[in-house]
Amino acid sequence: MGFVIAVDGPAASGKGTIASVLAKDFGYPFLDTGLLYRAVGVRLLDQGGDLDDAKAAQACAQNLDLAELERPDVRTRAAGEAASRVAVHGGVRAALLALQKDFAAQEPGAVLDGRDIGTVITPHAQAKLFVTATPEIRAERRWRQLSGQGEAVTYEDILADIRKRDERDSGRDSAPLAMAPDAVLLDTSEKTIDAAIDAARRIVEAARAKAGL
Ligand code: DC
Repeated sequence: MGFVIAVDGPAASGKGTIASVLAKDFGYPFLDTGLLYRAVGVRLLDQGGDLDDAKAAQACAQNLDLAELERPDVRTRAAGEAASRVAVHGGVRAALLALQKDFAAQEPGAVLDGRDIGTVITPHAQAKLFVTATPEIRAERRWRQLSGQGEAVTYEDILADIRKRDERDSGRDSAPLAMAPDAVLLDTSEKTIDAAIDAARRIVEAARAKAGL
């Protein structure tokens, strides 16, 4: 088994940025697993389907074409909301499981970010980070990002989205957002992105040393 870095945390915590930098620095392939759920949600909406329809959502997940992860519309606010809604269905999660486990099994290792990486997808990961920040700070970051993409959204709307999403992602029965007992907590509320990346790098370096790398 290669060296796996599992990065979990709530929406807009900075986990995606941190995970992609770690992947580049340590030379591992990177999978943003949120994109899988986003692509399932977008595909279901495209078909005029209902996000609460577990069977239809599962069929979308089973037929997912990885090229769909590249679509620009998977990064919109609507796609994030749709992703969180289809992600509650156990059948959707089951359909995406093998793909994520296979990605994690690559040699010499891999980086995955999401909500259940350290708890469900790769409980054996040698490095686990749980990246978080206050809802207000996450809302501000996400608002800047979406405004930069040209979406007309207010900070208040985004904060409401974030609170709703936290509740749904943490409250669902199937693989809820949770910190693995052996994960290291990284609170980025008071950190610049560079400081957060440095802290993440140190956590991974310590885990690598422990693994004899
Ligand atoms: O990380 P993100 O914001 O792109 O994720 C979008 C949604 O997808 C998130 O609100 C919940 C779901 N998700 C999940 O349930 N499990 C994952 N491993 C990744 C994302």
